[in-house]
Amino acid sequence: MSSRSTRIDALPGNVGQEVRLEGWLFNKRSSGKLEFLQVRDGSGVVQCVASKADLPEEVFARCAAVTQESAVAVDGLVREDKRAPSGVELTLTGLEVIAPSHDYPITPKEHGTPFLLDHRHLWIRSQRQHAILRVRHTLVDACRDFLNRDGFILADAPIFTPNACEGTTTLFETQYFEEKAYLTQSGQLYNEATAAAFGKTYCFGPTFRAEKSKTRRHLIEFWMVEPEVAFATLDDVMVLIERFVSGIVARVLEERKAELKILERDTAALERVQPPFPRLSYNDAAARLKEKGLPFEWGSDFGGTDETVLTEGYDRPFFVHRFPQTVKAFYMKRDPEDDRLSLSCDLLAPEGYGEIVGGGQREDDYETLVGRIREHQLPMEAFEWYLDLRRYGSVPHSGFGMGIERALTWICGIEHLRETIPFPRLLNRLRP
Ligand code: 4AD
Ligand code: MG
Repeated sequence: MSSRSTRIDALPGNVGQEVRLEGWLFNKRSSGKLEFLQVRDGSGVVQCVASKADLPEEVFARCAAVTQESAVAVDGLVREDKRAPSGVELTLTGLEVIAPSHDYPITPKEHGTPFLLDHRHLWIRSQRQHAILRVRHTLVDACRDFLNRDGFILADAPIFTPNACEGTTTLFETQYFEEKAYLTQSGQLYNEATAAAFGKTYCFGPTFRAEKSKTRRHLIEFWMVEPEVAFATLDDVMVLIERFVSGIVARVLEERKAELKILERDTAALERVQPPFPRLSYNDAAARLKEKGLPFEWGSDFGGTDETVLTEGYDRPFFVHRFPQTVKAFYMKRDPEDDRLSLSCDLLAPEGYGEIVGGGQREDDYETLVGRIREHQLPMEAFEWYLDLRRYGSVPHSGFGMGIERALTWICGIEHLRETIPFPRLLNRLRP
């Protein structure tokens, strides 16, 4: 935006004044004598009314001819309009076409999702996508603010890593000069080092999983916020998760009412996201699935359908804790009460959404951890630095990871997480 122009979201403060807007033509309606131009600039959409009677002929002719998504500069008088979503309307006095747009591929008619995904670079201009990504902005901001105010230090983890964190089946292999390397699945192992240095830390960045699944819950590249706390137990981290999740949801409700309305989100469901969240043990969850007639075996992990069924009967997010150690990563601490179980937890979002957070307490005993690395057949030398954390002042510690796109899919109340990231990377999609 140039210094001479006003942003659409600032127009309510400029009622009665002449302003210049810079943006794109979103939509247009005409009635012969009047042209109703919907102009968007990224901060909002405003209707600009051009009247044939009041404008020089060539200006009105330009208004009548301007096409969808042409870049424009509009001059006009700001008028209050209580019925308009923005609260204002512009009486157009001038229009300059900065750059025309011919045959814009995304028209107001319905398009299929593959077509829209192929045109993702343009699709993000449309109202619904725009609303989702604005909620994403606030969600990310809220995560950072919450942790920063709670005494956490941001300590980002590397993306190139020499070893696995979350199991070897979803490792994304790449070349690091002469060496084989992997794209990070999670910054957790590094967080454990930074937490021992700073007490409370978090990393926030992209993570990668070569998931061969084409579900509405899986991306190949997704963003994760991962806090880690020294001296914290499983119970402590569950309290942190519920404070964190309810805090960020409250912030989105406060700042993104208009966007949630565009998305037709039932905000009453989000208002209920208040601590404490219910806690269900894995054992009880497994029994519940059996009761409901699902073919679930104790000892296996929940599938998407299992998670959806488990969310029935909950009006807010809830924990499932103490999963069998066989379904969790090597670093999970065993439950001292039952060696088959781990001190792990998942947070499941209601309304059928399922897991949005995974976390737990880490194995802090040197010998036990060495045993786990062997059991999982992981290369010991790659973990030597990690084992140092158990050699030099090892303490109980816990943390979690929240997938931004999973959380956003639930908060926005949408069907598929591919719309929650500007440029999704899916099993069959690397472009645009
Ligand atoms: O449960 P996960 O695998 O846990 C970890 O990575 C831990 N190391 C985190 C930690 O304790 N620091 O992943 C955490 C979250 C999931 O709950 C989910 O929200 C998201 O990451 N996630 C995905 N989101 C989109 N696409 C995928 N393929 C995802 N895999 C995990
Ligand atoms: Mg998980």
